[in-house]
Amino acid sequence: MLSPREAIRTLPSYHPPLARRTGLRLDFNENTVGCSPSVVERLRGITADDLARYPEREPVEREVANFLGLDPTELLLTNGVDEAIHLLCQTYLGPGDEALIVVPTYSMYRIYMMSAGADVISIPAADNFQFPAAGVRNRINPRTRLIAIANPNNPTGSLAPAGDLLAIAQAAPHAAILIDEAYFEFCGQTLLTRRRESPNLFIARTFSKAYGLAGLRIGALIGPPDQMPAVCRAASPYNVNAIALACLPEALADQTYIHNYVAEIRDSRARLEHTLTSFGLKFWTSQANFVLFRVAQTAADAAAFTDRMRARGILVRDRSSDPGCAGCVRITLGPREHTDHLLRVLQETIADLSIAAHQPDNPSEQGASLP
Ligand SMILES: Cc1ncc(COP(=O)(O)O)c(C=O)c1O
Repeated sequence: MLSPREAIRTLPSYHPPLARRTGLRLDFNENTVGCSPSVVERLRGITADDLARYPEREPVEREVANFLGLDPTELLLTNGVDEAIHLLCQTYLGPGDEALIVVPTYSMYRIYMMSAGADVISIPAADNFQFPAAGVRNRINPRTRLIAIANPNNPTGSLAPAGDLLAIAQAAPHAAILIDEAYFEFCGQTLLTRRRESPNLFIARTFSKAYGLAGLRIGALIGPPDQMPAVCRAASPYNVNAIALACLPEALADQTYIHNYVAEIRDSRARLEHTLTSFGLKFWTSQANFVLFRVAQTAADAAAFTDRMRARGILVRDRSSDPGCAGCVRITLGPREHTDHLLRVLQETIADLSIAAHQPDNPSEQGASLP
């Protein structure tokens, strides 16, 4: 009888709650106003002939490499960062290997690592969801073949110091180190300029967040030129579709759009953090386009909050099932008018549910100063 591989049979299924997403979508860290108008203009110019051809990735890869200040041999365009993660797992992991993640973090690392048959080692974040640099270093051993770190991290929004990440890469020369910079634009810190300091360092970028192109599925994997041919061998030659390839140069060219959008999101982040402070709710200072906060002590109360927000037309993400996140909700930030709406509904919902301010046991845990 036909049976899937054991690694797949035992894989937990991951169903992001994508159904019935009507209202203001502050649940998936997407751009809530859409991409640059010049991208939409380019879309209108796509012809039947453009669609009839297999897509050619290399010319656009040269443009992206040039934009990022890289040699084209260091870059692969991917079907979102998700494909980049998948390819690294396919390239470096097999049964018996260990892959390290710091939890809570982005769910797809575990899924792709497990599907490659590797043993996933979860290292808990340090106090206040800070990056556990020593904890990761101490867990490295000869079986460690991949370490994936989101920086800034999702769902906590916290940022690991570049020096800690490089030290980990240098301590594990036999492992691939993925620094997932999906939220780079909202914080500005990158390891791209220091990539040559360790020959096992990979960096991922996405166009799903600040650029507003989640539906096009396009991201980039940057890695050492001597490693990239192996990663490319694991990829389909047509992994990125023609529409995404046609639009990406337009998206990159409109940096004014990105600059203005990011400025609005940072402003919204400060407003939300200020409001959470005024309610006495515990939150974690974020370097990304979302904020994680504790709305209740129990998962059931966090679910009631999420349902009530949905009933008022705003989708937010219950993160209660993530390690260390019981009672926590993550809210994505949009520009000013979306934040006006969010803060109004948040206030009403908090009043509805009589959510009591619960100060953290340890005052040093309180979300830090406002930006
Ligand atoms: C840390 C992180 N990496 C990657 C992704 C997925 O990116 P993409 O849409 O490029 O596949 C997400 C999406 O939420 C994310 O939070």
